[in-house]
This record gives sequence, structure tokens and C-alpha cells, in this order.
Amino acid sequence: MAFEFRVLHQQGKARTGRLATPHGEVPTPLFMPVGTQATVKGLSNRELVEIGSRIVLANTYHLLLRPGPERVARLGGLHGFTGYDGPWLTDSGGFQVMSLGHRRVISEEGVAFSSHLNGDRILLTPERSIAVQEQLGADIVMAFDECPPFPSERAYLKRSLERTLRWLERSLAAKTRSDQALFGITQGGVEPDLRRTSTLETIRFDLPGYAIGGLAVGEPKEAMVPVVDLSTDLLPADRPRYLMGVGHPEDLVAGVALGVDLFDCVYPTRTGRFGYALVDEGRLNLGSARHKDDPAPIDAACDCYTCRNHSRAYLTHLVRTEELLGLRLLSLHNLRYLHRLMERARAAIEAGTYGDFARGFAERRWPEGA
Ligand code: GUN
Ligand code: ZN
Repeated sequence: MAFEFRVLHQQGKARTGRLATPHGEVPTPLFMPVGTQATVKGLSNRELVEIGSRIVLANTYHLLLRPGPERVARLGGLHGFTGYDGPWLTDSGGFQVMSLGHRRVISEEGVAFSSHLNGDRILLTPERSIAVQEQLGADIVMAFDECPPFPSERAYLKRSLERTLRWLERSLAAKTRSDQALFGITQGGVEPDLRRTSTLETIRFDLPGYAIGGLAVGEPKEAMVPVVDLSTDLLPADRPRYLMGVGHPEDLVAGVALGVDLFDCVYPTRTGRFGYALVDEGRLNLGSARHKDDPAPIDAACDCYTCRNHSRAYLTHLVRTEELLGLRLLSLHNLRYLHRLMERARAAIEAGTYGDFARGFAERRWPEGA
């Protein structure tokens, strides 16, 4: 069996596990870097391996438009095309169409939209999303779903979660490859009863993994924890749980406590490109004059290439002069930071000290003046 998930240690709802895919095993809990255009912006495959990345995420929406799934398939799928032959996960496109497509028209059939590149009219349906994801060849593929914006009317949330269930059924029926695991996505906004319905109906499909979708779309920060808590109470313990689009360090620590296994977000790479470095206390703005003379690394406890070789002073210089290297070095550090955060979480769960770890982390965060 190429795809298998095993829970290894459990402490309260938090757990460590191992996910086997056709392109390798990955430890959980885990952060997955986003490689929207089949590249994690600025980083080479060798660097990804060095910082401890174990699965890379790519987007159906972007790769459908360019370079086109037929071309990727001819060149060996994402693994052959990019030369990254560890596990890949592709998102289905539903979420990206909502945020990037122009003149979107959602119907039962799917989502019609105009390409943000050249205006071409494109129809993305569950069947088309799965066909494209089969051409891209990721190890994990996502069901085609509708992710409502925040805030949305309750009546719309209900209709949309019901449609997402019908689209899941169509996604499954469209699948022809047996070497890809299809994850279902739950919706329902932040309405507890709708979330419950969405989760209970989704798990009836007995899928190899489940994602919690529709969060981190602008709802108040305190709204997420109860939704994740009730979701992980209902999701089967023996399947991986993926909290989509979540990537702030405090949300990862809280998500792990509630039994989430996988996360992804553009936050570490995007905030790096804006000149910010992630640290336990929050983030350092290396565009600020305040670090101009500081010979210290971003984080003396970090083992990344950036922290082992460069000072805050030099990084501040690179950011202020808008040099490409600065953006790369910060993305490298930020991703390593989140991978290390998940390593620390796994070690704490194994030692039975995750509660102390999470409390200690929250107490150190955002001190006065950070
Ligand atoms: N990425 C972040 N949230 C979502 C979601 O709800 N659905 C999908 N497909 N991708 C996401
Ligand atoms: Zn570092």
C-alpha cells in the first residue's frame, strides 16, 4: 500500500504520525511550503531538502493556465518537470479561482472565470480539476470545493457546503489513477452546526485524508479554534487532517494541540519577501533601520544557512537595497523556522510535554516592543 497513515504518539488531542506516499514518508505534524507555480519562490530543490521540507504544495489553477497540464504530464508530471521527486500535493483550484479569477460565475456545473493572465474564458469543474491534477501527478490531490468568503450569509454557507459535497462525489467519480490519494475538504464557515454537517457528510466518503477548508479567510482570530476543535472531534483519528491556508506560528501551535497533522501557507515566504524574519517572539522587520548595526544572526538558536552565515545588519542592508539575495535568505530562514517549530512540536508530543511547550510558546510571543 503506497499511501498509509499511522499515528505514533498521542498526547491529549495532539499526535505525531507518519504518512507514507509513493514518493516518500513524511512525519507529522508538518508544515508544507507553497510552490504555487511549481516552485517555492526563490528556493532551489536542494535548499528545500536542506531546510527540512518534506512535501511541496502546487496549485491546479496556476499550472492549468501556465505551463498547461499536458506539458507538465509530457515532462514527467510535477516530479519529473521540477526535479523535486519528494511528495507533492496539489490544491484543486476552487479556492484560487475565488481569489484570482475575474468575472467568476459559480453554478452547479463548476466555476467559469476569466484567466488573470490573458482573459481566456475557462470552466473549472470537479471533473476538470481531477483530470488536471492527474496530469500534474501529485501524490495527494484535493477535491474541488467552494470556499465562501468571510463574512457570508448562513443560507449561502449552507448551500455552498451542500454543493461542495456533491462536487466531492463528482471528484471521486472522476478519479482514474490509483496512485494518488484524494482528500475531501470540509466547509461551513464558522457556524458550528454547518461545520458539523459538512464534516459528518464528508467522512461518509471514507477518504484517505481530510482537510478543514474555509478558514483563515478573514474571520476573527478567536473564531478558528472552536471550529478546528469540533472538526477534529468528528474526523476519524486514523486519517491525516490538513488545516488549509494556516501558517501563523501561533495558529500552528494551537492547531497541533487540537490534532491537526498538516498545514500550508504562503505566510513564511511572503512575509520573507516583505523583509520580515520569523522568531519565537513574533517577527523582526529587517527593513527597519533598527538592525543596521546588529552583528547578531536573526536567531542564534536557528540552524539555517542564513542564521549560520549572516548578520541582521547585512540582511537589513540587502532588504533596504532590495537585493534578491535578501528575499531568498529570509524565505529560507522563515521556512526553516516553521519546519523546526513542527520538529519541536513532535519532540514535545513524544516526550508528553506538549501542553508546557504550547504554553511556553504563547508566553514568549509578542513581548512589549517586539
Ligand atoms: N486553501 C485555503 N483554504 C482553502 C479552501 O477552503 N479550499 C481549498 N481548495 N483551498 C484552500
Ligand atoms: Zn535561521
